[in-house]
Amino acid sequence: MGETSIDLRRRTGNGAAMSILSGHARVAGIAGWPVTYSRSPRLHGFWLQRYGVDGAYIPLPIKASEFAVAIRGLVAAGFAGANVTIPHKLAAFAICDEVDASAHRAGAVNTLMFREEKVFGSNTDGYGFVANVRAHGIDPTAGPALLLGAGGSARAVAAALQDAGTKVTVANRTAERAEALARDLPGLRVVDWNQRVAALSDHALVVNATPLGMVGHEALDLDLSNSPLDLVVADNVYVPLETPLLSAARAQGLRTVEGLGMLLHQAVPGFQAWFGVEPTVDEELRRFMVADLPMR
Ligand SMILES: NC(=O)c1ccc[n+]([C@@H]2O[C@H](COP(=O)([O-])OP(=O)(O)OC[C@H]3O[C@@H](n4cnc5c(N)ncnc54)[C@H](OP(=O)(O)O)[C@@H]3O)[C@@H](O)[C@H]2O)c1
Repeated sequence: MGETSIDLRRRTGNGAAMSILSGHARVAGIAGWPVTYSRSPRLHGFWLQRYGVDGAYIPLPIKASEFAVAIRGLVAAGFAGANVTIPHKLAAFAICDEVDASAHRAGAVNTLMFREEKVFGSNTDGYGFVANVRAHGIDPTAGPALLLGAGGSARAVAAALQDAGTKVTVANRTAERAEALARDLPGLRVVDWNQRVAALSDHALVVNATPLGMVGHEALDLDLSNSPLDLVVADNVYVPLETPLLSAARAQGLRTVEGLGMLLHQAVPGFQAWFGVEPTVDEELRRFMVADLPMR
């Protein structure tokens, strides 16, 4: 009828398109301190655009001392839920009215769903890790996995690998923390941090679940020169995309799994719960996210 179509989107400072919301819009976000470096708003923003969702996903800078009161405020304000990142994953577990098995096994929560004034917690990091390994065409149950680190993400990854049927070994700088993890996850083996290179020969997969190799951190010291030729090397660090560990593994001809995919896959269950669409992780999304990351 000759109507003029109006572009209801405008551009944010970083060039991303932003939709105009209705009064029915669903709202979620990411709670962290600091939260300025989080890639989750970019990731969820991409999917909101792709699926034309009447919704928003925003950064929520919340200090540790304000966490519980801020989350109750989000519930009262009608938010659909939130992701939780450093330093709140343990605090999030504590404030939930109910947690699922993934959160219970990890002892930490990264995804909150708000329903009828109640807070439900889940931990999707382990799911994201396993889904990412599979998306690289690698079977995470092909053989035992050696996990380096025993912090929050290592717990989630260890639990998810065990749930998939993989035998897991942990090496951590602070031995007590690895032993505590072994108490919580029966069947998990512990090796000394200084034995991590020797332990590679008994494993099909090695995972860096420490911040070593991340921008601003030293590289992980892991000599791969005598490792089995079929060893798969996974790095949960994704800033930079190509960590020194991944470069070293590729130089040895080993198969690698980059950490960005874990971030993308862990976000799927939350997006589906908050916005009612199961989003797809694909090459277009990966390219969009890579454009905002340092390569090395
Ligand atoms: N790709 C993703 O979606 C995703 C998701 C979550 C996390 N991550 C990555 O995983 C990293 C770890 O996260 P997190 O939440 O598990 O952290 P965390 O709970 O703070 O745990 C950090 C772990 O790294 C170890 N560590 C720290 N500095 C070390 C050093 N200089 N030498 C040896 N070990 C060291 C710690 O050992 P101690 O026990 O001895 O302190 C601990 O086991 C993050 O930095 C992030 O890059 C990625």
